[in-house]
Amino acid sequence: MALTTTVNAADLEVVHWWTSGGEAAAVAEFAKALDASGKHKWIDGAIAGGGGTNAIPAVVSRMLGGDPVGAAQFNHGRQAEELVAEGLFLDLTDLAKKEGWRDFVYPSSLLDACTLDGRLYCVPVNIHSWQWIWLNNGAFAKAGVDVPSNWGEFVASADALRSAGIAPMATGSQAWQSSGLVTNVLAVSLVGSEAWARVNVDKDAEFAAGPEYAAVFEAAEVARDLSADIEVTDWNLATAAVITGQAAAQIMGDWAQGEFAVANATAGEDYTCLPGLGENKVLQLGGDAFYFPKNKDEDVELAQLELASLMISKQVQVDFNLKKGSLPVRGDVDLSSANDCMRQGLAILADGNVLPGGDMALTRDTVESINDLMVQFWNSDMSAAEVQKKYAALIASAD
Ligand code: GAL
Repeated sequence: MALTTTVNAADLEVVHWWTSGGEAAAVAEFAKALDASGKHKWIDGAIAGGGGTNAIPAVVSRMLGGDPVGAAQFNHGRQAEELVAEGLFLDLTDLAKKEGWRDFVYPSSLLDACTLDGRLYCVPVNIHSWQWIWLNNGAFAKAGVDVPSNWGEFVASADALRSAGIAPMATGSQAWQSSGLVTNVLAVSLVGSEAWARVNVDKDAEFAAGPEYAAVFEAAEVARDLSADIEVTDWNLATAAVITGQAAAQIMGDWAQGEFAVANATAGEDYTCLPGLGENKVLQLGGDAFYFPKNKDEDVELAQLELASLMISKQVQVDFNLKKGSLPVRGDVDLSSANDCMRQGLAILADGNVLPGGDMALTRDTVESINDLMVQFWNSDMSAAEVQKKYAALIASAD
């Protein structure tokens, strides 16, 4: 006879935007863990579009329409801040206390990005960073040049690559990609962490419009030109072009690593990854997190808490992050099977050369306006001076 305390099984619809090969393999680890609990069932609600372009609006309209999903991915920080303030998410504070999240989450600032007025509303699942360039070693060999060790060397190799019929760079045409490339990667890597923080955290619009920051947009013109030989939309198709050697390089976050893994490519042999474009070895402490929309069904709530607990548990953290290419949020897990690129990330984290993520510094509205501007720049011949002026105006109106 069943005990009255038995938890009833619930189906949990989980919305996320992890649809590429590497991402799907990674998120499947969460699904597996929930299903293995023997109680609850993972209903996969993948909605394609990096940065949550399509998933977030869908989650919000389901919540406002009174039909909330079971769990929703966000980049924690400011992306969900209005929804948290409106009290739409389940409070995870008691669960986190009971399990001692503050004792093992490393760095603990990851939890701060989930916190409002001392209460916790999300479970961080990884630390990801934008500042990487991925290079196909074979493409450089074919072009007769050394694999570059920094951005400057890469730019210098472009003519040789083109003569060998190889596109120097592949960049997807979606707004969040050109935007991340310019405002996160080129800015942090080439002009530096302090300058980036002055613009994104302090919102110093004058500095953003000034001569030092101009280097970001000058480099963006170069990157735009080097990406002109190949047309792709999705980021993972750009990664695929690098994996096959059609293109030599892609600037993309650490999630690109998941694609190399699925293709059985080996870091250090088949491809090279340079954090901070080999210029400024830095890690942003942004990442992905799950929030749990409030639900009237008690069984669903128990399933939500169980999923939160599983997502941050030791083995699931390792399994998920090894496939995703990101770093775990726990400092107490065994990462002996980490590859060369992950090791570089871990070393940077240990050195403490870290910055907040863009989504921690800027609101979703500001990020979207910047994305619109950057894709306009990317798909036209807008000059560096013009995009800089427009960008600085957006920083001036950011809060
Ligand atoms: C980011 C997300 C990453 C990655 C990327 C591309 O917003 O945080 O984990 O998956 O989109 O889909």
